[in-house]
Amino acid sequence: MTTSGLHFFYFILAAIIILLLLGLSVWCIVNRRLLCATIVTLPRDVTALTRLIKILGHFLYLQRNNLTVGQVFDKNARKDPEKVIIRFENERWTNEQVQILANKIANYFQSQGFKKGDSVALFMENCPEYLCMWLGLSKIGVVGALINCNLRLQSLQHCLEAVNCQAVIYNEELSHALQDVIAIGGLNGTPLYSLCPTENSPSITPSIHLRTELEKVKCSQPEIKEKVGFQDVLFYTYTSGTTGLPKAAVIKHSRYLIAATAMFCLNNFQKDDVIYTTLPLYHGAANVLGGGAALCHGVEIVIRKKFSARNFWKDCIHYNVTVAQYIGEICRYLLSQPPSEHDRNHQVRTMVGNGLRKEIWSEFVGRFNISEIIEVYGATEGNCNMGNIDSKVGAVGFIPSYLNWAIPYWLIKVDEVTGDPIRGKNGKVIVCGPDEPGELIGKIERNHPIRDYLGYADKSSSEGKVLENAFRKGDAYFRSGDILVRDIYGYFYFNDRKGDTFRWKGENVSTAEVESVISSLIGLADVVVYGVEVPGTEGRVGMAAIADPEQSIDFDELANEIFTTLPSYARPVFVRIVSQIQKTGTYKLQKTTYQREGFDVTKTKDKMYILIGKRYAELTQNVYDDIIKRKIKF
Ligand SMILES: *[C@@H]1O[C@H](CO)[C@@H](O)[C@H](O)[C@H]1NC(C)=O
Ligand SMILES: *[C@@H]1O[C@H](CO)[C@@H](O)[C@H](O)[C@H]1NC(C)=O
Ligand SMILES: *[C@@H]1O[C@H](CO)[C@@H](O)[C@H](O)[C@H]1NC(C)=O
Ligand SMILES: *[C@@H]1O[C@H](CO)[C@@H](O)[C@H](O)[C@H]1NC(C)=O
Repeated sequence: MTTSGLHFFYFILAAIIILLLLGLSVWCIVNRRLLCATIVTLPRDVTALTRLIKILGHFLYLQRNNLTVGQVFDKNARKDPEKVIIRFENERWTNEQVQILANKIANYFQSQGFKKGDSVALFMENCPEYLCMWLGLSKIGVVGALINCNLRLQSLQHCLEAVNCQAVIYNEELSHALQDVIAIGGLNGTPLYSLCPTENSPSITPSIHLRTELEKVKCSQPEIKEKVGFQDVLFYTYTSGTTGLPKAAVIKHSRYLIAATAMFCLNNFQKDDVIYTTLPLYHGAANVLGGGAALCHGVEIVIRKKFSARNFWKDCIHYNVTVAQYIGEICRYLLSQPPSEHDRNHQVRTMVGNGLRKEIWSEFVGRFNISEIIEVYGATEGNCNMGNIDSKVGAVGFIPSYLNWAIPYWLIKVDEVTGDPIRGKNGKVIVCGPDEPGELIGKIERNHPIRDYLGYADKSSSEGKVLENAFRKGDAYFRSGDILVRDIYGYFYFNDRKGDTFRWKGENVSTAEVESVISSLIGLADVVVYGVEVPGTEGRVGMAAIADPEQSIDFDELANEIFTTLPSYARPVFVRIVSQIQKTGTYKLQKTTYQREGFDVTKTKDKMYILIGKRYAELTQNVYDDIIKRKIKF
């Protein structure tokens, strides 16, 4: 940073601190009731503040210099070309190797006539080349479309067409999926580049062998024809599409750099950390946390083709991992593994991720001796992001209430079943009090690198994600779609996905909560909970689909435990036993099909049960007919 930049930075810093202190004192006078809570959380807030100031410093520097991810990476690479930044199986990729491949990609695609604003789909499983591809393309302003490699047929075709891809880069494992899209009339003439390891590997004809092509290409920096800056589009990622088709979200250089920096500073990562991620790189979580740490901060990351519960700790030991990424399901799968000598003799200090439920949190950190869990909340494309940096069990993050003016996230009352915001007499939305569940929204400010919400590449998809005229005419808020609760200390807790909550006997049932309770009752198996409509009843009746391939569940015991742990309205009346719950590519469990089929015995061969009195009985055709004829009372 230049001297004047430094002065400016200190000036801003001092201004922020003065403002904060001022805000704090005014707030304390007005709001004595919360004073205690404020004092209790002061150490937490001071830590967060120092880290936030660090992030702000980075941010101002990036913005003032109009930097791109490519430029930030190149600077790291020049400083330390030999540093290994990516490990994959037995491969080690240094800064220099990543830079060479990225430059070659940039030079090659430029020579093929690709220019700023074009988009190229990446349809690849996790591999080191993945990061080099979008990085290289971004140097010439070409936007990578990071396609979920589990997609097939229509949904794959949709993703390619939604952002008008001018080419596809794929690796050999996925050639059959592209072949299938061609067979249904997709990819009409779009050039296909295969990244197959050898000439003889299977690939679609006519396909261009990218590796062979790249051999002849210069590895120097590309000569930039159209300049790329901080505010240009970097890549598209897609929402998981649990309901409906996936949508392409726009990620700019600014958003990526800030997210990567925030992850790095907020979580207090060090340059000599080794970060392990088993999540797919087409998804923001792994791409920002892992990819961002490697490319923007020169940290070594270890990537894996797919998550494996059996090899998780072995890998951590082998690669000397100090930080590992999780999602809730990963933690559950790890806990359900038999105890092993590897459980504790690793060096993993911190685990970062999202979705670790409070029911298994303490058991998890105890068994695997993890000193720090950092739950982060948010999505790369959204604008409500936060983190729980002090390992508070169950929380996804916090905002002290005296700082709400600086971080405009609110929980607002919504109809938990329809999801519509509830407005008061004055037409404004209603902010929840402490411990009241509500939907998280974040204020949108146009062109603000953190508060802007760019929506989806296809504009019509963005509808429903933006709430207008919430507090004031003309304002706009991003709707997270999640129901959270905030306590008096400012901690946020995840409650449920909006639309998943259902009402039964006048109560709102959080499916996420019931899922984690039932899962911990039955050895942490996969469970999804949803509400089904039953003729003659109000609301929805709870149903659980449980993965139990060996049909080993003792239903009397299950009923007993459900009666002792869940309130009457939350107990699943129906249970369906399946061999395996469908998952998205990021290991999230899917329930739409089960919900659609409900308790209809004619729609599936899976065994189903119904809670009658205090016992689960098999749901036979006769029982089903009785329910339809309203002979059974609920
Ligand atoms: C950043 O760079 C881009 C591309 O050269 C340019 O269009 C933009 O105006 C620059 N922004 C600033 C603030 O300098
Ligand atoms: C892990 O660290 C040890 C000791 O520092 C070192 O000998 C070993 O090579 C490292 N393992 C890997 C895979 O880098
Ligand atoms: C748990 O991990 C810490 C470091 O993170 C280490 O000092 C301690 O010895 C470990 N405890 C056990 C029982 O393995
Ligand atoms: C359930 O949610 C609705 C709003 O969606 C709210 O009005 C109602 O009070 C809630 N019921 C309970 C018991 O919390």
